[in-house]
Amino acid sequence: MDVARRLVIEGASVRVVMTEAACRFITPYTLETVTANPVGSDLFKDPFSHLNLPGDAHLLLIAPATANTINKLNCGIADNLLSNIFLAYSGKTIIAPAMNSRMYENQIVRKSIRNLLKSGIEFVGPVSGSLACGDEGVGRMADITDVVESVISAMTQKDLTGHKIIVTAGPTREYIDSVRFISNRSSGRMGYEIARAAVRRGAEVTLVSGPSTLKPPDRVTYLPVESASEMEDMVLKNLRGSNALIMAAAVSDFSPSSSKGSKIKKSDITSIRLKRTSDILRKAGGLKGRRILIGFAAETGKNLENARKKLKEKNLDMIVLNDISQKDSGFDVDTNIVTIINKEGEATDYPKMKKIDVANVILDSMFTLLPR
Ligand code: CTP
Repeated sequence: MDVARRLVIEGASVRVVMTEAACRFITPYTLETVTANPVGSDLFKDPFSHLNLPGDAHLLLIAPATANTINKLNCGIADNLLSNIFLAYSGKTIIAPAMNSRMYENQIVRKSIRNLLKSGIEFVGPVSGSLACGDEGVGRMADITDVVESVISAMTQKDLTGHKIIVTAGPTREYIDSVRFISNRSSGRMGYEIARAAVRRGAEVTLVSGPSTLKPPDRVTYLPVESASEMEDMVLKNLRGSNALIMAAAVSDFSPSSSKGSKIKKSDITSIRLKRTSDILRKAGGLKGRRILIGFAAETGKNLENARKKLKEKNLDMIVLNDISQKDSGFDVDTNIVTIINKEGEATDYPKMKKIDVANVILDSMFTLLPR
C-alpha cells in the first residue's frame, strides 16, 4: 500500500492488481482509495482484464512478491489475474520479493529468480532484517524508497550512459580542536539530488560528500570526506577518469591555521587564526582538459556579475547561481531558485523548483556540452 501511495505522490497513475492472498491482508477498497483507481483481483469478472488492465502501462511492479508467485511466474503458470497479466505484458517488469529467509534460500526459489533475471526481469531486494514471522534474515521486502527508486530509474531515459561524473555535496568541517569545527549550513541535498538524477539517467557517479545526514543515492560510488583538504584530495584523485565535475559542495573557505588533537580549554582561547583553504574548483579548472566543469555560486542576492567572475576565473563551462537570501532557495530546503549561466555568460532564470527538478535542468544543460 505504501509503495502505491508513494508512486502516486511521485505523479504516477497506478492500477493495482491483488491476488487472493493479498486480499486477505488488506482490502481492495483501501488500495482503490490510495490510487483513486479500481483494483483488479478477479480473473473472471472481465474475460479480457489481463489484457485491458495493464493497457499501455509503462511498467509492471510486483511488490511484495511471494515465493509462490515467483515460482509460478518462472514456470509460466497463469492461474490468477496477476500471473495472467505477467504473461501477457511485454513491457518492463520489476519484482520486489518478500518471504521468510528459509524460503528465499530454498534452491527452487533461487532457481526461479535466476531464470527470471535471465529473461530480463529486474529484482529489487529482498533485504536483511526482521521478518513477519519474527525470524531475522534475508527475505524482507526492500525499503519502500528503494522500490520506488527502482521504478523511477527504470522509467528514466538513459541519456548519460557511458559518462563518468563526479558530484561534490555538503559542507566541510575544519577542526579547531578534537571537538570543535568551522562549518556551514549546507545539508548536501542539492548535490545528492544531482547524483541521484545522474544515476537514474545512466551515468556512473562518484559522490564526494562532506558530513551529511542524508542517505547516499543507490548505485553511486560514495566517498565521504570531512575537511576541504580531504575533499580536494578525493576530487583530484578521481578527476582523471571522469568526463564531468559538478561542485555543489559548500567548501569552507577558511580553516584554522593550527588545530589541536585534544580539546582546548576555553581559558586558553581568545581568538582563532584562520588560513584560506585551497579552491578545489579552480585547481580542477587548471587540469580541465576536455572535461566539463560546473560550479555553483552561492550569492546573497542575484549577483550575476560575481557568478560570471567565478565562471571565468575557475575556467568553468557553466555556473549555477543560487540566491541564498531568498526563502525556499539554497541551504537546507527542498527547493531551489537558480539561474544557469553558460560559458558565454548568458543567463537563464528558472522558477522555484524541487531540488530533483533543478538537478535534471542542470544535467540537461550539461548533456548539450557532452561529446557525442
Ligand atoms: N569551491 C571550491 N573550493 C573552495 C571554495 C569553493 O571548489 N575552497 C567551489 C564551490 O563548490 C562552488 C564554487 O567554487 O562550486 C563557488 O563557490 P562559492 O562559495 O560561491 O564562491 P567562492 O569561490 O568561495 O567565493 P566567495 O566565497 O567569495 O563568494
